[in-house]
Amino acid sequence: MKSVQPVQEQPSATAMAPALSDQEFRQIRDWLHQHSGIHLSDVKKSMVVGRLQKRVKALAMPSFQAYLKFINLPTQRQEQQIALNLLTTNETYFFREEKHFNFLQQQVLPAFEQQRQPLRIWSAAASSGEEAYSIALLLAQQLGLAADWQVFGTDINTAVLEKARRALYPIEASQRIAMPLLQAFCLKGVGKEQGRFKMGPELCQHVQFLQANLFDLQAKLPLFDVIFLRNVLIYFELEDKKRIIQNVTRQLKPGGWLLVGHSESIHGYLDTLQQIRPSCYQYKKPVDRQLQE
Ligand SMILES: C[S@@+](CC[C@H](N)C(=O)[O-])C[C@H]1O[C@@H](n2cnc3c(N)ncnc32)[C@H](O)[C@@H]1O
Repeated sequence: MKSVQPVQEQPSATAMAPALSDQEFRQIRDWLHQHSGIHLSDVKKSMVVGRLQKRVKALAMPSFQAYLKFINLPTQRQEQQIALNLLTTNETYFFREEKHFNFLQQQVLPAFEQQRQPLRIWSAAASSGEEAYSIALLLAQQLGLAADWQVFGTDINTAVLEKARRALYPIEASQRIAMPLLQAFCLKGVGKEQGRFKMGPELCQHVQFLQANLFDLQAKLPLFDVIFLRNVLIYFELEDKKRIIQNVTRQLKPGGWLLVGHSESIHGYLDTLQQIRPSCYQYKKPVDRQLQE
């Protein structure tokens, strides 16, 4: 009669979730900083557990240390991206910080209507697309769908960019959009899309999304008239914020505008950025400044 071997315990998705030691937290913090520039303070340890533990468990990794070793393998680019997606904070909504949209409508767009030049606007930390589509809705209303304008949305997180490209949102989110804009440029879901709404196809033709890391900007992007860089600088330390501002400002046309979140002053970071009002900066090329002096 064969003897029964004791069953070796296999790590599985149902196994106990591993705990995160202080040392592992520091290693994850360094890894995230290296790949995105994002800084996690000590109080974010429980956030890291909350966001990564399920993944570590699903992959049957015995510890966070093992997961870190895994994502550091050059062959594991896909898993690196999953970890980045899990560790970024993506809160956003339509027409967030409305003052910037009023500024765009009242101060920036009238000049373009006269110049009849192509208009390029960048939502530089676009998350799931609400900011980029808010801009597009405004441009569609003010300049028309036939005019030459484009909105680019970029983010480091590929999961939110997928949502942005789908352009499909829960119907409750539409409450932040003015009724005339909804009626003119959005579609209400029916049948299996009941309870959702979608950006209309003509509007979507003016909007594109691609991945870009603001900390290490390699993406090929055009020059922009306006850049929305809102509610992202809060995740970086001072020197890294300055580096991001430099990267982003390189993509501005002379005279172009950089808009940051209302709680994110960048006053004094770059001589070439002139603050015109709180959170609104205009790019003056050095030569323009010399001419003025
Ligand atoms: C809180 S959301 C802000 C979304 C939108 N701008 C707004 O104000 O509602 C911040 C976004 O910045 C993105 N992000 C963080 N670090 C980044 C980086 N290094 N490069 C590009 N995007 C980054 C995150 O993935 C996230 O979607």
